[in-house]
Amino acid sequence: MDYTEITRVKREMPRQGDLEFSRDRELKGLIRSKNLDLLKNFAEYNEQLGIVERDVPAKAESFFSELMMRVEFGTGGKVFKESAFEDIREILKQEIPVEIQRNTFYERWLLDMTEVSRSFCETLGQDSTCFSIGSQRGCVRYHIDSVPLRVLVTYAGKGTEWLPDEAANRHAYRNGEPNDKIVKDCSAIQFINQWDVAVFRGGPKGLLHRTPDAALNGPSILMRLDHPLFWDRVLKHHYEENQNSSTKQHHRQSKGILSSTEEAAD
Ligand SMILES: [Fe+2]
Repeated sequence: MDYTEITRVKREMPRQGDLEFSRDRELKGLIRSKNLDLLKNFAEYNEQLGIVERDVPAKAESFFSELMMRVEFGTGGKVFKESAFEDIREILKQEIPVEIQRNTFYERWLLDMTEVSRSFCETLGQDSTCFSIGSQRGCVRYHIDSVPLRVLVTYAGKGTEWLPDEAANRHAYRNGEPNDKIVKDCSAIQFINQWDVAVFRGGPKGLLHRTPDAALNGPSILMRLDHPLFWDRVLKHHYEENQNSSTKQHHRQSKGILSSTEEAAD
């Protein structure tokens, strides 16, 4: 099923000067900013990819190192703009060890995911978003997502690998050929940096991307945001189909929470 037609948000274009951003001179299809307004307004631009550049906060490395050492997890659910912080905290409650939840950086992280989730609700013109997060990723082959827009933030580990169109053989991609046929120029391969917010298009003109080898072979923490209909039409049912009859999963389903190690993939 193709979800590229789920949404096309109509809104006024931002006035010149409202938004500080730069279109990359060397990489067509990329727009960068240090301001989350780029994410909020991305639906109005033509680029394949928008990157909101951010510094990795102090204490992030030690926090996520401990988290990844302690637990493997994958979870998700619908996050509403008005209650995003509480929704995300509830989704993660059963997944994150209590001692780590007591770390002061945990709230800092929740607040960051809240801010990005709320911003993406604005991008979509929706009151909620489909939220998923996990420590395992498995998209080996370069691919284009079948959704109109997606947000990825790699909080720990290697960020998503992507390929500019100039360096890609999209015909080979469409023919189902392997990565070495899709990549025309290995030196052009790009990576999203940790903590940067990547918003990108799927569909016929969407961004070619994959999980980098370093994240396939090692731990990482990736958050993914989608249109809320993606939860309603895909992930919710995926979860229902894959659930077993354990008490914990029944309890979690009743809260609309997904638990799957696969669903936070690039
Ligand atoms: Fe993907």
